[in-house]
Amino acid sequence: MTEILPPSAEALDRAAAALRAGDLVAFPTETVYGLGADATNDHAVARIYQAKGRPSFNPLIVHFPTAAAAAEHVVFDVRAENLAAAFWPGPLTLVLPRRPESPLSRLVSAGLPSVAVRVPAHALARDLLTAAAIPVAAPSANRSGGISPTLAQHVAASLADRVALILDGGACTVGVESTVIDLSTPTAALLRPGGITAEQMSAVIGPLVASSESPDAPKSPGQLLSHYAPGLPVRLNATRAEEGETLLGFGPVAGQPLSLSLTGDLVEAAAHLFAALHHLDQPDRYRAIAVAPIPENGLGLAINDRLRRAAAPRGGAFVGDGD
Ligand code: TXA
Ligand code: MG
Repeated sequence: MTEILPPSAEALDRAAAALRAGDLVAFPTETVYGLGADATNDHAVARIYQAKGRPSFNPLIVHFPTAAAAAEHVVFDVRAENLAAAFWPGPLTLVLPRRPESPLSRLVSAGLPSVAVRVPAHALARDLLTAAAIPVAAPSANRSGGISPTLAQHVAASLADRVALILDGGACTVGVESTVIDLSTPTAALLRPGGITAEQMSAVIGPLVASSESPDAPKSPGQLLSHYAPGLPVRLNATRAEEGETLLGFGPVAGQPLSLSLTGDLVEAAAHLFAALHHLDQPDRYRAIAVAPIPENGLGLAINDRLRRAAAPRGGAFVGDGD
């Protein structure tokens, strides 16, 4: 049975230590309970997708105790500074350009050049983030397709033994996920309505557009992901590299220069996926990418979803799924 811990100094210590060790910890925020992992640890982030059973790698929100801590990883412009000053801590998530030197896992942003960051208002969440002293990636703490949890018991019912421990902070007060606003482009775009309204934000930064109306924002999460597919051709289910191709392997196959996981471990493969694609996407070093078959089960579903997007013809209409 997963432990549900009421708030105490000892519970916070244990939860912070578990996060730092790469384990999953569910914790309350003012919106919904989050399924947290060390956002700088590729394997820990891969375990979030595994626990949720997500069929795709939706980018995750990274949580910080302060705006200053977030600013070590993303670039704040004046709009972001003003919104953070007005609504943080609170139910607002800002999508901002990632700093090149940030150690955040690429899996957190599903390969995108931006990262969604948030400073939650819940006292227990902030105490945990301060004690852990690492950026914490956290989607809602439910199995994919399930209802977002607003009680510790909801988390236990949905995720059972898939989480190391659950911090119990009682009922979430907001009850719906945070507002997500994209500030990675010149036009501020509302990606997800939530606890902070568009009117409240317009009062601070001026007009914003719905993501579907933005001149720069992609129309759907699916397009968002395919937009950043590698520039080189990608061929899937390859058993060997053809002339000009570099093989990205999976499992114990001889002669693979690069492998997502030599042991055929899907958590490891997910942890390496985006770094491997970024590495291979160098036209001066490589000409074409061939990827070995990945099993269509567990995390393999999300890995194959992302690989199919990478291999899709550019501009191809991939419609993404929500969470
Ligand atoms: O209230 C909340 O935000 C909760 C609590 C736990 O903080 N978290 C949450 O996370 O709802 P999640 O992973 O379920 O939702 C993340 C949302 C998705 O809509 C995702 O597409 C968007 O944020 N998102 C994350 N990173 C993004 C990025 N780099 N660009 C665009 N959208 C992004
Ligand atoms: Mg969710």
